[in-house]
Amino acid sequence: MSVAPPWPFPRVLAHRGGGALAPENTIAAIKVGLDRGYRAVEFDAMLAADEIPVLMHDPTLERTGRIGGAVSELAAAELERIDVGGWHSPRFIGETVPTLERTLRFCRDHDIWPNIEIKPVPGFEAATGAAVASVTSQIYADLIRPEGEHTDRFDPRTPLLSSFAPDALIAAREVAPSLPRGWLVDEVPSQWRKELTRLGCVSLHTNHRHLTAAQARDIKRAGKWLFCYTVNSPQRARTVFNWGADAFCTDALDRIPADLTPASPAAAYR
Ligand code: G3P
Ligand code: MG
Repeated sequence: MSVAPPWPFPRVLAHRGGGALAPENTIAAIKVGLDRGYRAVEFDAMLAADEIPVLMHDPTLERTGRIGGAVSELAAAELERIDVGGWHSPRFIGETVPTLERTLRFCRDHDIWPNIEIKPVPGFEAATGAAVASVTSQIYADLIRPEGEHTDRFDPRTPLLSSFAPDALIAAREVAPSLPRGWLVDEVPSQWRKELTRLGCVSLHTNHRHLTAAQARDIKRAGKWLFCYTVNSPQRARTVFNWGADAFCTDALDRIPADLTPASPAAAYR
């Protein structure tokens, strides 16, 4: 057994910027979280046509931009003019798609810790992973420790990259080997140990709905960190913490306090 060192990062993150309270993947959403004491955030990064990463979840603009067309057909400067706030509520009309660079500068300026989900459109996994790692490593260059692949050596302000796409994680590692990376899955697959090792990931990020206490214990006993998405009830948050989960993201910023902590950190997997 190799127990992971203590999770150095915040434990409760606003999902997609501001959870359900604001339009996803916008600076306005991150500000809403900040107003509620959230100084940690998960968001999605996708490539624009000019290979500049922007914050976006869907490959098309239909749902959040209320217009047709693929994100990958527009340059970042064009996306920065598209309203992705009005679909949520009138108060957010005029909120536009931010670049990853602008978002990370906002996070640094406000001491907000980011978990950047690399969200490639199919076929662009490696390009998206490389571009996200490149932008992130430039903005956080002063914090990245060369030996950072080891889980006890991260500056707690260093962003955590994550992705469902193994090729995106591999490309990110090639560009910025010392940025921590997590592998995202829906259900914990049987080969999780082998894949985390192959990808050089420090954490497994899983859908809490399928997670069991035994899986959580095994992941922690393997010396890996465990992140859950998207936990929206305080009771469930306490449960996954009791199982040994290190952190989670939530849409329920109005029900889950940003400073929620495990009752007895890591007690479940000793
Ligand atoms: O990073 C965890 C979570 O965001 C994954 O799901 O679809 O909200 O990006 P999704
Ligand atoms: Mg996400």
